[in-house]
Amino acid sequence: MKQESMTATEWMAFEDETQLATYRKWPIPLVKASGAMVEDVDGNQYLDLYGGHCVAFLGHNHPEVVKAIKTQADDLLFYSNAVYAPVRARASARVARLSPEGMNTVFFVNSGAEANEVALKVARKATGRASVVAVEGDFHGRTMGSLSTTWAKKYRDGYEKAFGPVTFAPFADAEAAARVIRDARPSAVIIEPIQSMGGMRTADRAYFEALRAACDDVGAMLIFDEVQTGVGRTGSFSYAQTIGVIPDMITMAKSLGGGVPVSALILKDDVAATVGYGEQGTTFGGGMLAMAAVDAALRVVEEEKLSERALKVWDALVEGCEQRGLRYQGAGCLMGIDFDQPVAPIIVELRKHHILTGGSANPNIMRLMPPAVVTREQVDQFFTALDAVMSTLEEVSA
Ligand SMILES: Cc1ncc(COP(=O)(O)O)c(C=O)c1O
Repeated sequence: MKQESMTATEWMAFEDETQLATYRKWPIPLVKASGAMVEDVDGNQYLDLYGGHCVAFLGHNHPEVVKAIKTQADDLLFYSNAVYAPVRARASARVARLSPEGMNTVFFVNSGAEANEVALKVARKATGRASVVAVEGDFHGRTMGSLSTTWAKKYRDGYEKAFGPVTFAPFADAEAAARVIRDARPSAVIIEPIQSMGGMRTADRAYFEALRAACDDVGAMLIFDEVQTGVGRTGSFSYAQTIGVIPDMITMAKSLGGGVPVSALILKDDVAATVGYGEQGTTFGGGMLAMAAVDAALRVVEEEKLSERALKVWDALVEGCEQRGLRYQGAGCLMGIDFDQPVAPIIVELRKHHILTGGSANPNIMRLMPPAVVTREQVDQFFTALDAVMSTLEEVSA
């Protein structure tokens, strides 16, 4: 069959023939995107409040990122950390400048899970201890180390022996978490400071202060997994800066390259000093294409004041939720909406209205991870569609 004339259904079947069957994909084969909109093979446009899996904070295909990677591809597509490269120097300096004070060292890798792996390894070597405290409800990735600190059993089942002892502390309970840390005396405490898959759960500042104090007491490193919260989504470059509690290491991925795969571990200066030559390494991490993307993406975040815009998107979403009596949680361009009923059918119906949203580990909580460039009109469009969906679902169940 000629590919030019294939339908959406045919494209999906073609992909399924050779792809590992591990995803339940939405039935929309995408070919294009711009800003908050994505387009499928049939030319249908969707408002993407799922934000390209939390990657498209700048909006999809930001022209500055696209221009930067095109130029970089012409000049030098790739060379590893065997060499210096001005584009890496620029990207690294930008990340360090935006990061909390005293966190001036950056290590680029390729994915969120990999950045977390490196953080856990650094803590293990620096402290000479193997155990880790993670937090109930956290998600840190699918590689063995990151996976062992991920809470949901469905991800860990079958791989439990992967890593040194991991103890889970409660989320948002300062006293109980501090007790777990003091008992375990771990190498590190890793936490997703807004639990995204957990439904965008937040904790108050006192909780993070208690983690910081307990880590200091027992000589453990505090790691913030800011794979989702980083790059300005909550109003500051890192959530650490939003809440004013500074960890020893921060990991970022998702939006960092404006859509190009890249992640970073950001280290406090004294932690960075514990890492010797040859102890960490990666072929592709810090490659030129990714570095050009990071440099351009972070320039856009600053120039277009996307952190401030993220807070405006939040305000618009809050208004819509409050008008409808819906409970919500999160911060900036990360919102969980609690519907008091399963959200799966609502998500499917919204897709029929050409709006993409996501679920979470809590079946009643819908996750929104919108680009910061979402407009007021697009937020209104979401709520208008939601009203229509809710009344249809009520009619069906009546
Ligand atoms: C908070 C958090 N940490 C880590 C990861 C893993 O990132 P990656 O899929 O890039 O390995 C994710 C992915 O969704 C995440 O949300």
